[in-house]
Amino acid sequence: MDLGELERAAAWINRANSVVAFTGAGISVESGIPDFRSPGGLWSKFNPDVYCDFQTFKAKPKLFWEMAREMQATIARAQPNPAHITLVEMEKQNLVSCVITQNIDNLHQQAGSTSVFELHGNAATSSCIMCHEQVPTPEAIGQLQGQDSKVPKCKICDGVMKMDVILFGEALTNSILEGAMTAAMTADVMLVVGTSLTVSPANEVVSACRRRNGKVIIVDPDHSVKPQGDLLLCGQAGVVLPQLLQACFAKRNVSTTS
Ligand SMILES: NC(=O)c1ccc[n+]([C@@H]2O[C@H](COP(=O)([O-])OP(=O)(O)OC[C@H]3O[C@@H](n4cnc5c(N)ncnc54)[C@H](O)[C@@H]3O)[C@@H](O)[C@H]2O)c1
Ligand SMILES: [Zn+2]
Repeated sequence: MDLGELERAAAWINRANSVVAFTGAGISVESGIPDFRSPGGLWSKFNPDVYCDFQTFKAKPKLFWEMAREMQATIARAQPNPAHITLVEMEKQNLVSCVITQNIDNLHQQAGSTSVFELHGNAATSSCIMCHEQVPTPEAIGQLQGQDSKVPKCKICDGVMKMDVILFGEALTNSILEGAMTAAMTADVMLVVGTSLTVSPANEVVSACRRRNGKVIIVDPDHSVKPQGDLLLCGQAGVVLPQLLQACFAKRNVSTTS
């Protein structure tokens, strides 16, 4: 990684009134949860365009639960990595005001981030599509054992249960999207970590920040995301974010002593 770029990013963060982090699947790759783009793992078995699609869920919920069962097992094994932990430290140091995430794995909250906008929901719970009765997802998955239909059903009304995540083709929760957009529009800096920025409307938080002249710092090992930001810190989030925090501390000390 270019050390000059690291210093430039640290200077922007130290100078900003509000820095918002925007994260995607890439931040959880080092925790053992595969993203959509890398070969291998869960998503080579379950094409997300099919298994994470709302129309497919409505027509064949059994397919969704086949994938959800394996995804739940992967998420249950995962622990926050140094990237999640650094964002918590940045919040404590008043260097980051909130996290907007596309992830459904709960790892930001598990690490200790207190202000998180989950644009795509959270896999930890599941709800009935008819009466909205909510249960922990492991309880819904527990129902699949030895059951013929292979779809968990609501114990109140017998409706089909769905994990509390937003699928492709499904609307986002308005209040959460609005909160995230407000944070993005008032941010001087957006720290974009581990997202291909291809999923809409989530990716609109980045354009909202840029429209108000906010700077966009991208952390990603893939150069192809670079044009969508002002600066790319190329590398794995679990390595780059701790280095970025150290650079912020170093720059802060220099400016307070000089
Ligand atoms: N952990 C999860 O909750 C999870 C996992 C898979 C997909 N999803 C969801 O599916 C959609 C996919 O869009 P997306 O843009 O988030 O993911 P994506 O798979 O389209 O893109 C992931 C990005 O992360 C980068 N990346 C890979 N390893 C990285 C690392 N170690 N450090 C930093 N960056 C790394 C990749 O180069 C890529 O640019 C989103 O809604 C996403 O949240 C969530
Ligand atoms: Zn119900």
